[in-house]
Amino acid sequence: MDDSDMLDRSCASGLFTRIVGSVINFHDTLDSTNKRAKDLAEGGCGEGIVIVADTQTEGKGRMGRGWESPRGGLYLSVVLRPKMDPKDVQLISLVAGLAVSKAISTTCLIPTSLKWPNDLQYKGKKISGILTEASFKGESVEYIVLGIGINVNNSKGDLTDEVAENSISIREITGEKVDRAELLRNVLYSMDLAYAKMLSGQLENILDEWSRRSSTIGSTVRIKTANRTIEGKAIGVDQTGALIIKQSVGLGRVSAGECTHLDPC
Ligand code: BTN
Repeated sequence: MDDSDMLDRSCASGLFTRIVGSVINFHDTLDSTNKRAKDLAEGGCGEGIVIVADTQTEGKGRMGRGWESPRGGLYLSVVLRPKMDPKDVQLISLVAGLAVSKAISTTCLIPTSLKWPNDLQYKGKKISGILTEASFKGESVEYIVLGIGINVNNSKGDLTDEVAENSISIREITGEKVDRAELLRNVLYSMDLAYAKMLSGQLENILDEWSRRSSTIGSTVRIKTANRTIEGKAIGVDQTGALIIKQSVGLGRVSAGECTHLDPC
């Protein structure tokens, strides 16, 4: 990667957003953009600040896992302060997944599917992951750190075998190097629009779009939560982002967990 590939302040020129990207901090290396964003949020920073790093040494993934973050990928976190019910925070992951999926199709012309709750896939391989970490004060949301990692120009050789097996980067799909600055602008623009839509009550519309792009809806799934495993056919998501599953015993609802698609690809 040469200097022209590094993300810096110039990437933000021409970006007009209302909230997401009000301030953008660029770093060469951080331990984790989520960790930095969380520190800023704890310190009282405003809504919409974005932290970007070209590489992370301790990228965080879901379920306490790590997120391998070699150069060439896109790693960013956004601080949000939505006025929403704490039980609905999962919606932010769905909103972000939809926004990232749209940004990838606008920038790179490839379709991605959304795997509940917050993976983006191409032909069953992971192209992007989303990690939302929320802090609550009493009955309200104090802040949410939304972390987005996208495999962009990196290749399998940059990842451990275990992760590489189930991952793919945009460059590996198209065979062309992606302009990460353009992708970043489109992600922020798309997230800003989707967030505004959610806040203005157009949730139905977002969930419809999410479901249309989802490979989970209509699939037979197994969801493992901390204390149970549910199997059945995923038939939709409810107003809180929880997955609705049709089981032989009736309808089940699960708000968080590890999802496996059981149908053969
Ligand atoms: C997942 O496990 O699928 C979620 C991965 C989220 C990774 C992103 S990269 C930017 C941000 N900073 C982190 O430490 N993690 C998230």
